[in-house]
Amino acid sequence: MKKQLALISLTLMGLGSTVVLADGAAVYNSGCMACHNSGVAGAPKVGDKDVWTDRIAQGMDLLYEHAIVGFQGEAGYMPPKGGFAHLSDDDIKLAVDYMVEQSQ
Ligand code: HEC
Repeated sequence: MKKQLALISLTLMGLGSTVVLADGAAVYNSGCMACHNSGVAGAPKVGDKDVWTDRIAQGMDLLYEHAIVGFQGEAGYMPPKGGFAHLSDDDIKLAVDYMVEQSQ
């Protein structure tokens, strides 16, 4: 019985962390913010509409691609997945959605 309870709580903990990572804001706050909160190394600051207008105009697919495979632009270098290789492509897309939502 005790063993079963332990298994159940482990499963719940596992589910819990999946849910957290499937949240764009949580993914953003777990890493992307290191550069995108203050604009480190030329990163477009989240919430700064001016620097995002032209980027958003490229279309979401290109933004996703640049965030996933990395991107050398005029402002600086965006590492693949921001350097967080453990994040899934879907996590990255959710984080990009969140960043765009906050910046338009
Ligand atoms: C080490 C710093 C750094 C981290 C961490 C980082 N970025 Fe970036 N990111 C940049 C820089 C610099 C640019 C600007 C590149 C340019 O346009 O010259 C950028 C640009 C972008 C863009 C715009 C791409 C375009 O086409 O205009 C998106 C979207 C983006 N990052 C998403 C993310 C996401 C999502 C994360 C977290 C998983 C993340 N970034 C983490 C530095 C970072």
